[in-house]
Amino acid sequence: MAESSDLRLKRIPLSHGAGQMPALGFGTLIPDAALTITATRDALEAGFRHFDCAERYGNEREVGRALQAGLAAGGIARGDIFVTTKLWNSNHRPARVEPAFEASLERLGLSYLDLYLIHTPFAFQPGDNQDPRDQDGNVLYDHGVTLLDTWRAMESLVEHGKCRAIGLSDIGLDEVKTIYESARIKPAVVQVESHPYLPETELLEFCKEKGVVFLAFAPLGHGMKPGLLEDPVISGIATRVRKTAAQVLLAWAVQRGTALLTTPRSAARARENFDISILPADALDEINRIETRQRLNPVVNTGVPGFIPKAKGA
Ligand SMILES: NC(=O)c1ccc[n+]([C@@H]2O[C@H](COP(=O)([O-])OP(=O)(O)OC[C@H]3O[C@@H](n4cnc5c(N)ncnc54)[C@H](OP(=O)(O)O)[C@@H]3O)[C@@H](O)[C@H]2O)c1
Repeated sequence: MAESSDLRLKRIPLSHGAGQMPALGFGTLIPDAALTITATRDALEAGFRHFDCAERYGNEREVGRALQAGLAAGGIARGDIFVTTKLWNSNHRPARVEPAFEASLERLGLSYLDLYLIHTPFAFQPGDNQDPRDQDGNVLYDHGVTLLDTWRAMESLVEHGKCRAIGLSDIGLDEVKTIYESARIKPAVVQVESHPYLPETELLEFCKEKGVVFLAFAPLGHGMKPGLLEDPVISGIATRVRKTAAQVLLAWAVQRGTALLTTPRSAARARENFDISILPADALDEINRIETRQRLNPVVNTGVPGFIPKAKGA
């Protein structure tokens, strides 16, 4: 791992020389189109250089517009930012992977992606309906395709030079191992929920051993209250080190060797969340001793996200 004493600038190398991921990432799961644009611009201005998107978020076009405008205004090169997007569950059939990838690329207005992830290991009925259900409201899964089938199609994208790296998301250690062992191109990144209430230590150890980047979402516990931001251990440390609770949680994540995604939605919060600094060892130990265990996002069990923004006019 590339060490930097400045956590804000830390970049983590991806396997196979596929570039470096800035540890501090900005997530674009934002319900409102106008807010997507301002928040993305604010994040870029605050210093974020890593942007996490998804076909399923319904706002790739807005993120793309904000990035083009922000890069031009700030004199920032495309190569200075790291952009990820994700293949949705209804596109797991191998024949659907490349068209889905190309459609995301077109909406983002980019000529290549730094990283493409399989959003979840659950295949839904193939088609343009992202949330296929039966009459009783049950999800219609697709049992005619395996995760490895989809992974092979993802590998082709890398081999054809369309994206630099591929990875997995919302997945457990056993399934990661299965794909890792069968893959020609190993997963470069695994994106999962992780914070002090869900440290995912075993998965993190596996990732470190294999050189896979562990990318944590919900580092602030989705901002839910009561929750991590009000945890007495976190707020006690925040007072001691003169940082905010959010800054303590983000620093902990980076110092334990993960990359992270956070979603500040105002310019002030973007600056706050980017302005993290090293925590002393005793503070890290104290956070590691927190015993509360809580998973906030059930997507890992069903493939159904807890919360999805509605595109404008939808
Ligand atoms: N792979 C997946 O299935 C998956 C699932 C979920 C998320 N993600 C990715 O992860 C990204 C991060 O989302 P997240 O919800 O997990 O992020 P998060 O940073 O843990 O939580 C965001 C929430 O925290 C609040 N917040 C942000 N900065 C704060 C601060 N400094 N002080 C107090 N509250 C603050 C925000 O409140 P305000 O809205 O009031 O600013 C927002 O409600 C997403 O955008 C998406 O890219 C991926």
